[in-house]
Amino acid sequence: MSEKLELLRAIREKIEESGGAKRIAKQHETGKLTARERLLLLFDESSFVEIDAFVKHRCVNFGMETMESPAEGVVTGYGKVNGRLVYAYAQDFTVIGGSLGEMHANKICKVLDLAGKMGAPVVGMNDSGGARIQEGVDALSGYGKIFYRNSIMSGVIPQISVIMGPCAGGAVYSPALTDFIFMVDKTANMFITGPQVIKAVTGEEVSSEALGGAMTHNTVSGVAQFIAPNDQSCISEVRRLLDFLPSNNLEPAPAYETADDMNRVCAELNSIIPPESNKAYDMKDIIKNIADDGEIMEVSTHYALNIITCFMRINGKPVGVIANQPKVMAGCLDINASDKAARFIRTCDCFNIPILNLVDVPGFLPGTSQEHGGIIRHGAKMLYAYCEATVPKITVITRKAYGGAYLAMCSKDLGADIVFAWPSAEIAVMGPEGAANIIFRNDIQNSADPISTRREMIGSYTREFATPYKAAERGFVDDIIEPAHTRLRLIDAFDMLTTKREKLPAKKHGNIPL
Ligand code: HXC
Repeated sequence: MSEKLELLRAIREKIEESGGAKRIAKQHETGKLTARERLLLLFDESSFVEIDAFVKHRCVNFGMETMESPAEGVVTGYGKVNGRLVYAYAQDFTVIGGSLGEMHANKICKVLDLAGKMGAPVVGMNDSGGARIQEGVDALSGYGKIFYRNSIMSGVIPQISVIMGPCAGGAVYSPALTDFIFMVDKTANMFITGPQVIKAVTGEEVSSEALGGAMTHNTVSGVAQFIAPNDQSCISEVRRLLDFLPSNNLEPAPAYETADDMNRVCAELNSIIPPESNKAYDMKDIIKNIADDGEIMEVSTHYALNIITCFMRINGKPVGVIANQPKVMAGCLDINASDKAARFIRTCDCFNIPILNLVDVPGFLPGTSQEHGGIIRHGAKMLYAYCEATVPKITVITRKAYGGAYLAMCSKDLGADIVFAWPSAEIAVMGPEGAANIIFRNDIQNSADPISTRREMIGSYTREFATPYKAAERGFVDDIIEPAHTRLRLIDAFDMLTTKREKLPAKKHGNIPL
């Protein structure tokens, strides 16, 4: 037996050496951790259990028959993250560049299947040269199998992709099919066709970083939602995100004890709205005031800054926040903001995370680029996502709520369970200036002093309509509240909505305007 034990230990040791000391040193020199180091950071101490360490490739092409591939270039297994079961895989760049062949893919698929059966999240750490060229169509098939599982498990278990090295070609579509993408600054990149192919085909010259670096995908394309300066902080943010998510679609999002007073009055909020209606303020100040301990986790921080999407806890329970940002483009809704919000609403809804909407929106952004870019289609995604979401939905109107954008930010008619308005709310078809120009045009034109008549008309419209009272009279606003009481009123309302049950008509699936 002792010989057999020695053999087992020797084989395991060899596997754990990955691609060898030289390649590990190169990995560290480029600022990257190894696959095993990453997994140890992701999981609670001593909780990671590896599976399939002995798997080998079956390729006999181009000299592969003699090539060793410890753990087949991907370390897979499960463990605990803050005490909860999570599955993970980490591609090992030191083994054939982390390239994906048939057996490498099978290992990832096994983890996805187990996660689906057990109802636990999956974290995939990507660091790979893509399809293993020597394995040809077997490698492509491997990706196909992963895409299939990513899609079928979507909305069942949370899937998080972490890009920590190259991720090229069709390989990018597995992360794109998951719920969240993290990228490590400077070491991660994602593209369908790399700089060399682009140069050959179009003549365009671009660096990998500019084409598909972490900042590019966090700011320009919106493909990634998170960026971190290094592997360590990236993994710690993944752990933080997991704390906001349930293990699967049948469980509530996890609640944590909080020392923050549930009756806390947020006195600062009574003076946060500037006296001038067109002056900006920072909506994040409001969110942080309401949140337990002022803590929020922003999603897509660097993309479509005119809308904020974030997780926070309120009385210990996770809430997803969608909020207009008056500091950027006056908080107008545009194509990118609509896409960002719609995606976040659906993420919250499929994982039972109640939604809070904070509204200060003057309208949809006007202009040919928006119209020709399909703002109708993109804006419709938001409407659709809100209407379809069955989680508790609360809307707080802090200031402007005009026209279609009032509806699009989850008005009563789109299914908000509770709508609160601050006394500063202006709920109307459009802003007083635009409205006065249209409905009082004749009075203004025929007046001896058009300028002061116009000013008078704007004032009269403002007093009459740019308030929350008309909407409250019709029941579109459930209550007009003191801003300082927002936190305690939200805690009470979310508590009241805990048992909400809403069933949609039976159908194969809806047809969201994609
Ligand atoms: C086989 C690969 C490989 C691959 C890298 N390696 N990519 N082996 N198939 N796809 C091997 C290298 O030969 C090398 O082996 C080792 O991994 C490390 O790679 P290096 O090139 O030395 O590393 P680096 O200089 O850091 O460059 C990394 C890289 C480069 C930018 C990723 O390796 C590269 O361009 N690889 C090819 C990328 C690619 O075109 N992949 C196919 C994409 S198409 P040795 O033995 O020398 O250490 C695709 C389709 C997916 O993925 C479709 C899904 C539907």
